[in-house]
Amino acid sequence: MDKLLITGGVRLEGEVPISGAKNAALPILCAALLSAEPVTFTNVPRLKDVGTLLRLLEQMGVKVERDGETVTLDAAQIAEPVATYEMVKTMRASVLVLGPLAARCGEARVSLPGGCAIGARPVDQHIKGLEAMGAEVKVEHGYVHVKAPHLKGTRIVTDMVTVTGTENLMMAACLADGETIIENAAREPEVVDLANCLNAMGAKITGAGFDVIRVVGVPALHGATHRIMPDRIETGTYLCAAAVTGGKVRLTGALTSSLDAVIVKLIEAGCQIQSEPDAIRLVAPPRLTAIDLRTAPYPAFPTDMQAQFMALDCVAEGSAMIRETIFENRFMHAVELQRLGAEIRIDGNTAMVQGVEKLEGATVMATDLRASASLVIAGLVAEGETTIERIYHLDRGYERLEEKLSALGARVRRAS
Ligand code: EPZ
Repeated sequence: MDKLLITGGVRLEGEVPISGAKNAALPILCAALLSAEPVTFTNVPRLKDVGTLLRLLEQMGVKVERDGETVTLDAAQIAEPVATYEMVKTMRASVLVLGPLAARCGEARVSLPGGCAIGARPVDQHIKGLEAMGAEVKVEHGYVHVKAPHLKGTRIVTDMVTVTGTENLMMAACLADGETIIENAAREPEVVDLANCLNAMGAKITGAGFDVIRVVGVPALHGATHRIMPDRIETGTYLCAAAVTGGKVRLTGALTSSLDAVIVKLIEAGCQIQSEPDAIRLVAPPRLTAIDLRTAPYPAFPTDMQAQFMALDCVAEGSAMIRETIFENRFMHAVELQRLGAEIRIDGNTAMVQGVEKLEGATVMATDLRASASLVIAGLVAEGETTIERIYHLDRGYERLEEKLSALGARVRRAS
């Protein structure tokens, strides 16, 4: 198993490019299932999760052509509208094939994703929405079986805001008869990017980015070319890495408008931030001020940035309270940060962090994607060497991480 060795204490300085967004690429690649014509995507990040999804689509009969960051998918023939447990257990986002397969093939058999480290993560809202559109859904032997010869437009109100739930239902609605209204919809920028791609393919979607999305069904979608939006969580992660090391960085290809809640918190912590049309600059103070935060659906503070900010608070001036309201078990990085000397007390979905003067390098273990990013950030500022084990979690969501960090001056290397 690969591990990352980081020697802390270096101020990160310089410029790195931001890659395409993982959480936009995953639903958008699935959208290709909705068309019998080829669809081309650019700025597709080279991530493990993207590779996994492309293998799943290929298994279904989709022709996949990949040239660096450009991917062309041809779903003219879908031989097998099935996503097996073997595929889905490694990447729960595979559930995003459910809506498109139901709409395009009239049937689908997709393994239940099962939980993951951060929570149970059920898909009941995805199922409820498809049933509302007239699909017959049975869950047996760990698989979701969908029979949907004619999806019909209807009004759906999800019980809670769900990002992939909104995305699955929006994709299914594109080919349904009549209009579908999705209320309590997720407003994440990745939902908007998906809607823009679907509309380029001939869909009729309005309201993406707001909590009511309207979709007027059409008989078929055609081919298109779509550029994946920049990854706002990768951007936020590098901003945190620069902030915690007292650094000064410029991230190119970043989309600052999708990061307002994160930028506000970094400024509160003492950073200077400058936005350019497609770049963002950060200059960090000598020491950060501890900041409280509470995660919530977009446009509030993103849960995917909570672990990274906890690492900042560990060495900041003062104490902070962090509330995680989206997932039931997203504090696993806390015990690993404590191994580096952090002072954190967990009480349910609240973490109290007391800033300390310094952290000390140690061996720690990554448990999930963003927890791993938190440990990298802590390792960059800890004294001495930090070894992060099980970094396959990192490779799922961060492209060329050690290369980009090294370009900013970090002393980091991968070892098997
Ligand atoms: C998406 O996951 C992201 N993944 C996650 O990013 C992100 O953390 C999450 O949204 C929240 O922003 C992708 O986009 C591929 P949800 P998703 O459905 O859609 C509950 C990362 O690090 N819920 O918005 O699975 C659920 O349990 C990943 O890149 C139900 O109860 O999250 C959670 O508590 C991690 N029933 C809450 O809603 C459902 O049917 C929000 O989940 C659906 C969700």
